[in-house]
Amino acid sequence: MTRVFSGVQPTGEGPHIGNYIGAFRRWVELQDTQDECFYCVVDLHAMTVPWEPESLAEGVRRTAATLIATGIDPERSVLFVQSDVPEHTELAWILICLSRMGELGRMTQFKDKSRGGEAESIGAGLFVYPSLMAADVLTYRADRVPVGDDQRQHLELMRDLAIRFNRKFGETFPVPEAVIGRQGARIMSLDDPTEKMSKSSGRPASAIGMLDDLPSVRKKIARAVTDSGSTVAYGPEHPAVSNLLDILAAVTGESTPELVARLEGQGYARLKADLADAVVAVLEPFQTRYAELIGDPAMLDKVLDEGADKARAVAGPTMALVRERVGLRSGVLR
Ligand code: TYM
Repeated sequence: MTRVFSGVQPTGEGPHIGNYIGAFRRWVELQDTQDECFYCVVDLHAMTVPWEPESLAEGVRRTAATLIATGIDPERSVLFVQSDVPEHTELAWILICLSRMGELGRMTQFKDKSRGGEAESIGAGLFVYPSLMAADVLTYRADRVPVGDDQRQHLELMRDLAIRFNRKFGETFPVPEAVIGRQGARIMSLDDPTEKMSKSSGRPASAIGMLDDLPSVRKKIARAVTDSGSTVAYGPEHPAVSNLLDILAAVTGESTPELVARLEGQGYARLKADLADAVVAVLEPFQTRYAELIGDPAMLDKVLDEGADKARAVAGPTMALVRERVGLRSGVLR
């Protein structure tokens, strides 16, 4: 049996459809395999940029409810919150000490976020963030990590850290493999197809939030930028329309060549109308289920408490072994 681990940062607004298409729908599918799945709301990662205590707690609840409403089944997967399992931060410290300034400084996400005049004042957490992410996965000695394309570089570093640790301290961790879908792994902004759809763009028109009200979802799709010309075609010369086709393919299960064949010659209005209907058809039942879940905080807390117990049962023995291997007094040898 192989073990799967993945995570999502909680945000005030909740996840967007890029998260759903690039990550969550794959997480749901993996539950049907023989794999043992661990899915984590990574609240400590959300502290790498300034945060408010109430919105952090609220974001954790919203994100957990979102995952359950999209089909993560807490009976079949271990669904939990990162900060409930202190082993993540303990292993993170050891991995930070094994990480090199040079490799952390080369992470494009760090470079992007630290660009501009504020570079001097950004938190150091943003710099060591990939080492914490490596600790998340290695704590469970997971083999496979389903993520979107933007996490590729972090996964490479994670693999390097696992190899480095194993070489120095003895075989301890499997070297985890990224699982990145061939399609939908990089959904772009609706208002700028050169930029990844993200929570932090600050422009509401760029991302479709999974919790957005449905009329505004339709409005955002209707206003999405398109390419010059009017052909429905797929490929690098048609970045905006290709992005809309990627989203449509992901939510309907059709392939992009099938969609192009069906929509060719019909203009962008038809593509957008079909896309709006298809996205709403996915979001409507999701939002109904979400409303039930978020209305029952006691049940959500119980699910997350149980998830944390199951996660700790795996994380504890890993850390005991790690402590022993690296020479800490509290290792299992005592
Ligand atoms: P986060 O919270 O930014 O995103 C969660 C997942 O959604 C994917 N994703 C996208 N996929 C396609 N198109 C997009 N526009 C898009 N935007 C986001 C991400 O690739 C991710 O899979 N560092 C991680 C969270 C994390 C993690 C981990 C992941 C922490 N520890 C351990 C895996 C394993 C992050 O910030 O994801």
